[in-house]
Amino acid sequence: MTKIITDIETAAEEIRKGNIAGLPTETVYGLGADALNDAAVIKIFESKDRPVFNPVIVHIQDADEIEKYSFEIPDRVYDLAEKFSPGPLTFILKKTNIISDLVTAGNDSVGLRIPSNHIFREVLRLAETPVAAPSANRSGRISPTTAEEVLKEMNGKINFILDGGKCEIGIESTVLSFLNNEIRILRHGYITKEDIEKVTGKINDRIINNNIDQESAGNISPGMLKIHYAPATPLYKCIEPETAESITGLKTGILDFAKYRNLKEIVFNLYSDLRKLDESGFDILLYKEIENHGLGAAVNDRLKRAGSGEIILSENSYKIINNTNE
Ligand code: TXA
Ligand code: MG
Repeated sequence: MTKIITDIETAAEEIRKGNIAGLPTETVYGLGADALNDAAVIKIFESKDRPVFNPVIVHIQDADEIEKYSFEIPDRVYDLAEKFSPGPLTFILKKTNIISDLVTAGNDSVGLRIPSNHIFREVLRLAETPVAAPSANRSGRISPTTAEEVLKEMNGKINFILDGGKCEIGIESTVLSFLNNEIRILRHGYITKEDIEKVTGKINDRIINNNIDQESAGNISPGMLKIHYAPATPLYKCIEPETAESITGLKTGILDFAKYRNLKEIVFNLYSDLRKLDESGFDILLYKEIENHGLGAAVNDRLKRAGSGEIILSENSYKIINNTNE
């Protein structure tokens, strides 16, 4: 049986022993293991049903540790770390041999992140090891933002979930690659392109889109494959979601962003709202894209990946355009 606990030492001990535990971060809950223990890291892949070609982020305590686990580190990494770490930014850098191929799924790069959540930081300090942690959902599903949501995903598969309340941010970190002499956003997240460019100057954000075939996508950031973060109920983009139910006759759940005051609130509630709708017995779920700027880009990106395509409504008929390349 999986227990929700609040004792940080117990969770750290679990990691030290080579087991995995659900842990709160400021972004989403993670499924943590000792990053230097392959037998422990295997448990992450097994319990999530995660494809072994999808690398896991390694969480460290501070920027001084970056050079332990990576090399050829551009100065920009330290500039960004000074501004945004601890926090929701993951640096993809060439890995040193201390990091095993299992963690990086055979890539010669590693994702390093310095989380700001004080409970997670305490686990790192007590466990005295870097912690490999993907989001604590079964592979392909929405990331959990509360301990209870982790329990729904992982019940029976792990011993402990450390409860840190609802995650302060609500979506995953921004993943930024420094490979091949360029800075490239691999996953939009809470730290926006505009935030980063204030430190680095213009960067590349040609993130993987639906037109790139999965094999070549996989070579850049396997976790950015199209089918990701998905609810079980089909989710569609729609220009006028409010009129959909009467036109389609389908029981329709709508992601309502209008009730939130700003983008931060939308992000904070995005995954839990999606989960609630997913559990409410609707035939379809609909969302309206928000302005594709700053944090809005991260929200639209997650929704597009969670979604099955778009529904086009006309006076008394409708058409569903399913995403291709699935
Ligand atoms: O906010 C977060 O980043 C959360 C919390 C728990 O820290 N973690 C998280 O991990 O979202 P995960 O595994 O769900 O997503 C990690 C993403 C994946 O898209 C993965 O492919 C990519 O980062 N990634 C990790 N290491 C990589 C590497 N060496 N090269 C390219 N992409 C990498
Ligand atoms: Mg994930």
